[in-house]
Amino acid sequence: MKAKILAVGSALAAGAAAQQTLWGQCGGIGWTGSSSCVAGAACTSYNAYYYQCIPGATTAATTTTAATTTRTTTPVTTTTSSRTTTTSSRTTTPSTTTTTTRTTTSSTTTTRASTTTTSNGSCPTNFVSTSGKEFRLSGKKFYFAGSNAYYIPMYGPNDFLDIDTSLDAFAASGLKVLRTWGFADFVGPQEDYVTVFQNWSSVPPTILETQERGLPRLDRVIQGAESRGIKIILPFINNWAEYGGIDLYVEKTLGSSGNHGDFYTNTAIKNIYKNYVKTIVNRYKSSPAILAWELSNEIRCAGPRLGAGSCTPAVTTAWAKEMSEYIKSLDPCHLVAVGDEGFFNNAGSSEYLYNGGPGIDNEALTTLASIDFGTFHMYPIPWGKTWDWGNQWIKDHAAIADKLNKPMLFEEYGVTRDSGLRDTYHQQYHDTVFANSIAGDMFWQFGTTVPNWGKSYDDGYSIYPSDTTQWQNFVVNWAAKMETKNA
Ligand SMILES: *[C@@H]1O[C@H](CO)[C@@H](O)[C@H](O)[C@H]1NC(C)=O
Ligand SMILES: *[C@@H]1O[C@H](CO)[C@@H](O)[C@H](O)[C@H]1NC(C)=O
Repeated sequence: MKAKILAVGSALAAGAAAQQTLWGQCGGIGWTGSSSCVAGAACTSYNAYYYQCIPGATTAATTTTAATTTRTTTPVTTTTSSRTTTTSSRTTTPSTTTTTTRTTTSSTTTTRASTTTTSNGSCPTNFVSTSGKEFRLSGKKFYFAGSNAYYIPMYGPNDFLDIDTSLDAFAASGLKVLRTWGFADFVGPQEDYVTVFQNWSSVPPTILETQERGLPRLDRVIQGAESRGIKIILPFINNWAEYGGIDLYVEKTLGSSGNHGDFYTNTAIKNIYKNYVKTIVNRYKSSPAILAWELSNEIRCAGPRLGAGSCTPAVTTAWAKEMSEYIKSLDPCHLVAVGDEGFFNNAGSSEYLYNGGPGIDNEALTTLASIDFGTFHMYPIPWGKTWDWGNQWIKDHAAIADKLNKPMLFEEYGVTRDSGLRDTYHQQYHDTVFANSIAGDMFWQFGTTVPNWGKSYDDGYSIYPSDTTQWQNFVVNWAAKMETKNA
């Protein structure tokens, strides 16, 4: 999911006309100042309370998108249109490395199929492992329904009560696996309520290991998950601008000459990423709450502000290999995944989602020996597809699981409430998942209300307990149904 823009009070619209300076605040609950940024900067959301003018908005189109997103009163529409813009703008970029990448895939598939069990005697049995196309936990099958709630570490300040309350609600729903953000990259001066894991005011950035607003918030999430029996999937960086992102790494390290694709090849940037990964992995590597480390949220060759450069699917695959092997060297006992959207790089295809257009080869990524399971996401309408097509996309990925004999996780998808089609298509997708080789299912996203923060941001995809029937059918009953596969 790209646009995780949190809701803004309508007071924002009344803001002064003057443009905000670089690094200046430009939005957030209670903010009454300007919501537009000086030329060359884009107003970017970090959480409901804080938007900031970040440099690097190089085109008029980007600036317009960001500004519109900030002020919108209809988040669903904005989410859809900004995602469509990204997709269509990349459609014109030719994909060039189909041949190379496909060769790699076919030559390694056979090897991988014979070595699919991740766990070994030295790893704790209460860590999740894999066996063929399935996950395992404590020696048993572990099919599950889970969900995303990126925002849980972002409550603050001193809102451990909010973290605890949201985790209580998650556990009570029957959902077993939670995916939440393991990154919060930030630049410039900040108010106390903003969660900051990595401070980019200087380069290399500083990791906030002890300040309350830093990793202690994530500690609370991991420990809270552990005590409630929730398993966590934790991505280390965003492809998109929310909570930092790849463009921020590039802009801060390489200045205006960099492009998004440099993230995957530049040594200085890779070392900064590895240093962050090492800090997080070492901090939680003994925790059974971690289901998997995830290299990213939705890596692609291009980002919201910066272009692909010479990046290709072969480049992102090589990066994933290097980084997943690095993580295995730090922690051989937890699973590692990519967190990609599942795009294919099929020779001869002319379709953007299937021809390597976004710079991703899901099969090549899933084939890597140091990647334990495949991931895919699904947003049919923003991707220019139909809701019906979604069933095919699920089957396409189940076929990869069958071919590689590895688990495939349906990690993000949703049907917007306003479409009026949620009952129809959530049900269809669940039926398709249940009937095919999909190891776990995680909708976008879990909605909840907590004492201090209030209701989690409703991007239109969220399902709350107040969506009474859908909550019962697509959360509670669905979690119970997936559990029956473990009998
Ligand atoms: C980030 O670093 C800058 C420069 O050292 C400092 O002024 C700022 O307070 C830091 N922010 C946080 C949240 O630590
Ligand atoms: C356990 O398995 C991991 C890879 O899955 C491997 O890196 C590690 O060396 C193994 N440990 C032992 C003691 O065999």
